[in-house]
Amino acid sequence: MRQVTRNKYKKVRIAYSYLPAQKRFHNSRAKFRAYVGGYGSGKTYAGCHEAIWLSYLNSGLTGMMLAPTMGMLEDATLPTFLEILGRAGLKYRYRSSDSKLTLPWGSKVLFRSADNPARLKGPNLAWVGVDEGALVSKAAWEVAISRIRHPDAKRLAAFITTTPEGFNWLYEEFVARKRRGYEVIYARTDENVHLPAEYVRDLAEAYDPMLARQYLMGEFVNPAAGRVYQSFGRALHVRDDIAFDPALPVILAVDFNVNPLHAALLQTKADTVFVVDEIVLPSSNTYELCLEVRSRIGERHVTAYPDPTGRARKTAGTSEAPSDFAILMSHGFEVRARNGSPAIKDRVNAVNRKLSGPGGIAGLYVSSRCRETVRSFEQTCYKPGSTVVDKYAGVEHITDAIGYFIEYEYPVRPPMRVEYTGIGRDAGGRGY
Ligand SMILES: Nc1ncnc2c1ncn2[C@@H]1O[C@H](COP(=O)(O)OP(=O)(O)O)[C@@H](O)[C@H]1O
Ligand SMILES: [Mg+2]
Repeated sequence: MRQVTRNKYKKVRIAYSYLPAQKRFHNSRAKFRAYVGGYGSGKTYAGCHEAIWLSYLNSGLTGMMLAPTMGMLEDATLPTFLEILGRAGLKYRYRSSDSKLTLPWGSKVLFRSADNPARLKGPNLAWVGVDEGALVSKAAWEVAISRIRHPDAKRLAAFITTTPEGFNWLYEEFVARKRRGYEVIYARTDENVHLPAEYVRDLAEAYDPMLARQYLMGEFVNPAAGRVYQSFGRALHVRDDIAFDPALPVILAVDFNVNPLHAALLQTKADTVFVVDEIVLPSSNTYELCLEVRSRIGERHVTAYPDPTGRARKTAGTSEAPSDFAILMSHGFEVRARNGSPAIKDRVNAVNRKLSGPGGIAGLYVSSRCRETVRSFEQTCYKPGSTVVDKYAGVEHITDAIGYFIEYEYPVRPPMRVEYTGIGRDAGGRGY
């Protein structure tokens, strides 16, 4: 609870129980502050409270609230501001002709959109606040802070409340340069106890793990950097017109991950690969997979490209049970696999290369009905700062499966390095 009292005015109370991050934000004495948080982490709310507090401290002076666009200003920032004042029972005047608010203690707040930095120039201010600051240009921010120079100000300050947007200028200014007078406060969406319970869950489902770190955890990430299948793009590779063609051979790509078991049905035309169907079987085994394939495509010839570890491994049963490979063969599938698993980086590279071949021409397309496959291509990520696939989200299986087929039939090998130096480790082998 912050109490606003001032001799001339009657005591004003603004009820506000801050979230932990909001408390850190309000308590910071840095001249330049950024509240960086996920969607719904209380950014706008905190920013409006901070603005009211600064306009109270700098009584009689003018401050400015910015948002990236007029739409964002009118939809989020301004309504939140007025709602807080209204709830506190504070009598304010808002003039919409020039978007200027006058508070009971005489301070003024200009509400402006940042899409035209030149229009932000003007007389001295005491403070500036920017909602969703990562979306405004660096130029707009610089013009705005150049105005905080009012000689009578008790506290000159500029603050940003924002969701991170990759490693942009905001990251450079506030995080990377570690400048004095700058402070960043991080906030997570799930810390906001005022949100409906399903909000965080719905958000988490809507974003891939990388974007979720940005939009829910408020972390600076490079959303494209961690993706395993960087060549995949929904607009290019996902098509509505892909259907099973009875005239073409059938390919089955399998990952024997037990629960759920993932497989893809593919067909090729010339050297172009089409993912025509996908099979995801919870708590299943290779027998059931074979039955499922047969029920979908009948008694056609099938070439299966399973995870090579299935040569000896058994998804179900005792030591007398046949191996996964044996089960596939007993259902009439021809099995093709390397003796050992290909290196993950070779498999991933082969898939990316197939997605984007020489000259950028796609060599693989996915039917829009194969939603798990699309998800897997889009959301399979590396652990931050590494080339280790992050298995946490469990989305990697079906593209693993497709990779066994692609790596077997369309391997990418680095060009041969010719060795003239006689018999060494590389002699006779591929030198790479
Ligand atoms: N300290 C708080 N007390 C009460 N409600 C809060 C508080 N902080 C945020 N909220 C509420 O949580 C919701 C999300 O806050 P908001 O500031 O709009 O999030 P953001 O701008 O980060 O997306 C809003 O309904 C807001 O009123
Ligand atoms: Mg907001």
